[in-house]
Amino acid sequence: MSNIVILTGAGISAESGLGTFRDEGGLWAQHRIEDVATPEGYARNPQLVTDFYNARRAQAATATPNAAHRALVKLETAHVGAVTIVTQNVDGLHEQAGSQSVIHMHGELAGALCARCDHRWPATGDMVPDDICPKCKASAGRPDIVWFGEMPYHMERIEQLLSQADLFVSIGTSGNVYPAAGFVQAARAYGAATLELNLEPSEGASLFDDTRLGPATQIVPNWVSEVLAQ
Ligand code: OAD
Ligand code: ZN
Repeated sequence: MSNIVILTGAGISAESGLGTFRDEGGLWAQHRIEDVATPEGYARNPQLVTDFYNARRAQAATATPNAAHRALVKLETAHVGAVTIVTQNVDGLHEQAGSQSVIHMHGELAGALCARCDHRWPATGDMVPDDICPKCKASAGRPDIVWFGEMPYHMERIEQLLSQADLFVSIGTSGNVYPAAGFVQAARAYGAATLELNLEPSEGASLFDDTRLGPATQIVPNWVSEVLAQ
């Protein structure tokens, strides 16, 4: 299995203390998607949306990578072929653990984006709504998060990776949100083997060749040990 592409979701960071979206008591049980994760919601109430991401940024800053993040670093270091992580997560735990090849398709809490000129800059602490863009000086700063109705980042690169994958692995994602939820079908169509590692079967569980269920901190290190022993 030379080229491995790994899609991660909120479930891989759950045991680092970051809540998922759709599990019981998850973020989308506490906040309406339309209010905090759409361009229309931001236009209606930028302060509410900014506060929501400020709170998540502060929470993510206190979290540390867990055994699942660390196992993926070990895989990237020791596997003979390429290992690429495509993450839906906006936390920085893969990088904090030491992963080098990470693609953030839904943006990052650590970034600010100018809605006018697409310039990006670091957001380390709290943001303010419509902050001044350091490049074009427009009052158009926003969290660098892909909201519903917006195009996820790096899609061409991801499609290319899927087309070259020998193995596609999905970790800790419910399979509710497209285009990520469709990656398993794309990878299969390109000829990759497919594996799901999740706490419970996802929406697309039947699309995978193989599924292993359990907490990420157990099943991810176990799977990595197997791959490296092959
Ligand atoms: P979800 O909250 O939809 O799904 C989390 C998945 O992780 C579920 O299938 C859980 O069973 C699983 N899970 C929970 N705890 C776990 C653990 N300890 N070990 C392994 N798996 C566990 O989160 P995502 O699928 O990541 O997008 O959500 C996808 C996107 O929807 C997010 O990127 C976000 C959200 O709306 C945007 O904000 C654009
Ligand atoms: Zn700008």
